[in-house]
Amino acid sequence: MYKIPANTLFVGKNLVFVPECHSTNTLAMELSQRGSIADGTVIITDNQQAGRGQRGNQWVSEPGKNLTFSVVLKPGFIKADQQFRLTQLISLAVTDYLRSRLNATIKIKWPNDILINQLKTCGILIENSLSGDTIQFVVVGIGLNVNQIILPSLKATSLKQETGKDYILENELQLLLQAIEIRYIQLREGKINLLENDYLINLYRKGELHGFNTMDGVLKGMIDGVDQRGRLVLQTSEGKRFYDLKEISFADKEV
Ligand code: BTN
Repeated sequence: MYKIPANTLFVGKNLVFVPECHSTNTLAMELSQRGSIADGTVIITDNQQAGRGQRGNQWVSEPGKNLTFSVVLKPGFIKADQQFRLTQLISLAVTDYLRSRLNATIKIKWPNDILINQLKTCGILIENSLSGDTIQFVVVGIGLNVNQIILPSLKATSLKQETGKDYILENELQLLLQAIEIRYIQLREGKINLLENDYLINLYRKGELHGFNTMDGVLKGMIDGVDQRGRLVLQTSEGKRFYDLKEISFADKEV
């Protein structure tokens, strides 16, 4: 069970705990479509059995060990074509929260994987319901590896894996929701430059020459930044190139 956060204005003030479910994102989408649900509602489970990830991947999490939850937001103050700003603010909020919890290198791997010491600790899946150019609601799904020590991939880690400490999930949720609210309010106040700059400062491999898998094979390039649509901007020997999520991935081996 989780308590309502004490220190937030609206994020998590309505908190729905389900002992198990398929996917908190799916549940949050269903609840939002069915009727009015308060801005900042959190749907959280201890046992997510069919967690969904980006690019159609699964998100697997050991029951009771990690945070798996979704936040419903209603950012009526941004347009549908500005939705990458949500990706930026949520990634930054997780980064801020992790920095407050451990002393390590924390980075955002474009678009929104959060790495501790180059290993993935948190995955984010943002799903929208749009009506024309208006965002009706957004479901922000967050999977944060906290106490799990046997992880499904060598490229993954958890808070416990990094620090050796055990964490009380409820406390971590409270801190993370506070961090989300702080960054969300920055967006609402129009602090776009701050969010964009902070995102770029924290971007994994920015300004470094590395290999990327693209439709044209493995390409060497340097991350220059992201454009307004959230596309990755790569500086290559043939000039600047722009990629959507489905068009590029980070190559494991260097070229
Ligand atoms: C990714 O890195 O591929 C994104 C993973 C997102 C996982 C979270 S866990 C809570 C929420 N419910 C889901 O089904 N997915 C997200």
